[in-house]
Amino acid sequence: MITLITNIQELLQIRDSAIKKVSGTAMAVLPSIKNAFLLLKDDCIADFGIMDNCPSIKVDLTIDATGKVVLPTWCDSHTHIVYAGNRVQEFVDRINGLSYEEIANRGGGILNSAKNLNLTSEDEIYRQSEIRLNEVMKLGTGAIEIKSGYGLTVEGELKMLRVIKKLAKNYPIKIKATFLGAHAFPLEYKENHSGYIDLIINEMLPKIAKENLADFIDVFCETGYFSVAETKQIMIAAKKYGLQPKIHVNQFNAINGIEACVNHNALSVDHLEIVTEQDIEVLKNSITMPVALPSCSYFISIPYTPARKMIDAGLPLALATDFNPGTTPSGNMNFVVATACIKMKMTPEEAINAVTINGAYAMGISDTHGSITLGKKANVIISKEVTSFYELPYAFGNNLIDCVFIDGKIVE
Ligand code: NIG
Ligand code: FE
Repeated sequence: MITLITNIQELLQIRDSAIKKVSGTAMAVLPSIKNAFLLLKDDCIADFGIMDNCPSIKVDLTIDATGKVVLPTWCDSHTHIVYAGNRVQEFVDRINGLSYEEIANRGGGILNSAKNLNLTSEDEIYRQSEIRLNEVMKLGTGAIEIKSGYGLTVEGELKMLRVIKKLAKNYPIKIKATFLGAHAFPLEYKENHSGYIDLIINEMLPKIAKENLADFIDVFCETGYFSVAETKQIMIAAKKYGLQPKIHVNQFNAINGIEACVNHNALSVDHLEIVTEQDIEVLKNSITMPVALPSCSYFISIPYTPARKMIDAGLPLALATDFNPGTTPSGNMNFVVATACIKMKMTPEEAINAVTINGAYAMGISDTHGSITLGKKANVIISKEVTSFYELPYAFGNNLIDCVFIDGKIVE
C-alpha cells in the first residue's frame, strides 16, 4: 500500500534518525517543511520534502492536504486503559468534598478497581479495554504504554498483562506493557508490606518473565503506598528479568523517590506534580525522562507539573494521558497538548515535542516512532483545515483531526 499526501500546509516534527529526545531550549523548536508532500509505503515513511520535489509515481491513494497540517501520531507513554467498570461514584464524592486520599482510605480508589477487576473475566476486560483503545487511536494516538496494577493478586496481574498482550497482537498500534503489581497494598497485606513485596518478587515477577508479559516495571512510590526503600527493592528485583523502571513518583509528596529512580536507570519518572530543586538537579544529565500528566491534575484538582521551571533548567519533558478509571478517565492526547499550553505555559512547539519524540523516548521506541523520519513507522495525523498548527491547542476540548494513519493504514 502506497499513500501520497500532497500540498501539506506544514509537515511537522521532521527529525534526523539520531534524535531520540529533545531537552531544554531545544524543546521550543519544532522542525517543519511548508508546502510539503509525504510518501507512506506499507508501514513506513518512504519519502517527504517540498512539493516541488514531489515524486510522480503510481500510488494506491493520494490525499490532498491543502490547508492541513500533518504530524506524527501521539505517543502516550503512561496509561492504565485495561480495567473493569468505572469509578463514577468517586467522581461525585469528590465533587461533594472528599479528597482522592479520603476516598482511598475508605477502601475506594485503586482497591475499588482491583475488586472489580478480579470479579471480571479476561474476555470481558478485553472487550471493555478494546473500546478504549479504539477510541484513543481515533484521537491520534499511534503508540501507547499500558500498565497492569488493578489485579494486585497473582492471577489478577497476569490476567491484565495477558489482555495487554492480546491487544498488542490484534491491533496495529504499538503497545508497551508495564507490570505495576506495586500499585497499592491489598487489604490483607495492609500490616504486612514485606509479605506483599515477597509475592511481587517471588511469585509475580518470575511468572510474568516466563510468559514474556512485560517490558517495564512500575511502582507507585508515594506516602501511604510504596516507600522509596520498597521501590528500590522492587526495581532491583525486576532488573534481573530485564525490566527497566518507569515509576509513579512525586504525585502528592516529594519523598526523594526521583533520586532513587535515576540511580536505578529509570527510563521515566511520571506524575511530578510536586517537584523540588533537588529533584531537578538529579534529573539533569540523566537518561531518565520526566513525564507530566496534566489531565490528572485537571481531573482531581492537584497542582500541574512545573514544566516551565524544568524545561528552563534544561530538562526534557514528555506528556502523557494517565488514562485510568480513578484520576484520569480520558485518553485524549489533544486535550493533554492544550492543557499543557494553557495551564503549564508550554508553547505549542514544546507540547508537541513532549507528546511525540519525548513520549516515544519515555517508552523506549524513539527509533521507530515520534517523528517524521525516513524509515520510521507510517504513523501520522492529518488535521482539519487550520490557519496554523497553533490552532490544535487553541481549540481546546475539540479535536481538529481529519484522519489518522497507523502503520500506513487509515484508522476507521
Ligand atoms: O497514575 N497514582 C497512581 N495511579 C494512578 C491512579 C490510580 C487510580 O486511582 O486508579 C495514577 O493517577
Ligand atoms: Fe498512572
